[in-house]
Amino acid sequence: MSEAFIGLMSGTSLDGIDGVLVEFGVPGAPPAARVVAHAHRAFPAPLRAEFAALNVSGRDELHRGALAANALVREAAALVETVLGSASWQRSAVVAIGSHGQTVRHRPREFDATGYTVQLNAPALLAELTGIDVVADFRSRDVAAGGQGAPLVPAFHHALFGRADASVAVLNLGGIANLTSLDRSGAIAGFDCGPANVLLDLWCERSTGRAFDPDGGWGSRGTVDALLLDACLGEPYFSLSPPKSTGRDLFNAAWLEARLDATNARARLRPEDIQATLGELTARTVADAFRRHLAQAAELIVCGGGALNADLMARLGRALAPARVVASDARGLPVDQVEAAAFAWLARAFMHRLAGNVPAATGAAGPRVLGALYPAR
Ligand SMILES: Nc1ncnc2c1ncn2[C@@H]1O[C@H](COP(=O)(O)OP(=O)(O)OP(=O)(O)O)[C@@H](O)[C@H]1O
Ligand SMILES: [Mg+2]
Repeated sequence: MSEAFIGLMSGTSLDGIDGVLVEFGVPGAPPAARVVAHAHRAFPAPLRAEFAALNVSGRDELHRGALAANALVREAAALVETVLGSASWQRSAVVAIGSHGQTVRHRPREFDATGYTVQLNAPALLAELTGIDVVADFRSRDVAAGGQGAPLVPAFHHALFGRADASVAVLNLGGIANLTSLDRSGAIAGFDCGPANVLLDLWCERSTGRAFDPDGGWGSRGTVDALLLDACLGEPYFSLSPPKSTGRDLFNAAWLEARLDATNARARLRPEDIQATLGELTARTVADAFRRHLAQAAELIVCGGGALNADLMARLGRALAPARVVASDARGLPVDQVEAAAFAWLARAFMHRLAGNVPAATGAAGPRVLGALYPAR
């Protein structure tokens, strides 16, 4: 028997929404997941700009956030139609949609010690527009249980990539880079390493006008600057012990500008040198985290849009040698489908009232059922 779910993910890169239709088999029996269809829908430029603006304090945020959530869900509903249409599937064959929403603040364990994580989303509207049950709000229960609410993908990484004969690690290169450790003993760990595409995209857009650097071709023509790299590596987040998670709250334009100013980088360097240095920053911080926490893993499986950046992948390969670096395509799922499939998987976990978090990764007091249901009927 199999069950089909749709997963929707729009991450910190703010590039748009990935949607996948996934069939899951009986728990434990391979293959754990089969992606039937995948589609990506880029955010309209004004919506992308509004999400970026809502990441920092501003005027009338509740009103703007509510409207941005509605706009997000209209894009998501159109994407669901595309995904179903491309597979020629009926909506009635889908058990539920797992809808992540758009993170605009991530401050777990701060302020009142519980803190919060905010994903703009309008799951009731999504249920109304699609006629499919929606599971949403995956992170807040983990935060309520004292966790970071992130990363939530390790349990799915384990189901998909875990092996009994070897320890492996999974690296997702989204806006932020997050690592999952899958020990051959079955032990799972995971945490956010630091910035990936969020800084690369920011600097690329500023310098070239393009939203990202296709295949890393521009960055590959730059030279890494040791002074700027050291200034970036001095960030205290990198030496914190897991569990830890981060986002645009820390790694943003102000963070980058402070380091560019401190090293007089704009006057000394070409823009592509700065891009190369930011790529090297991701590679170094991932490699450092890998050596400190996952040294026993023989292989690093890479997913997320950053895996399509050849310059970044080459830097990772050099920084991690002799560990093997492979794209997730070689291990069963294309790089741009893994994170969205994780939210289909989390929706399935919710429907079966199974825990979705890995307490060792998030720091929560224990396993928790994640999400809330918005029935279509
Ligand atoms: N061909 C490419 N070459 C270089 N970079 C690419 C390419 N395609 C995508 N990217 C990068 O990947 C980013 C999108 O990746 P992805 O969707 O995995 O991240 P995300 O939305 O932050 O997701 P998440 O938070 O779930 O990890 C783009 O913003 C861009 O920086
Ligand atoms: Mg994305």
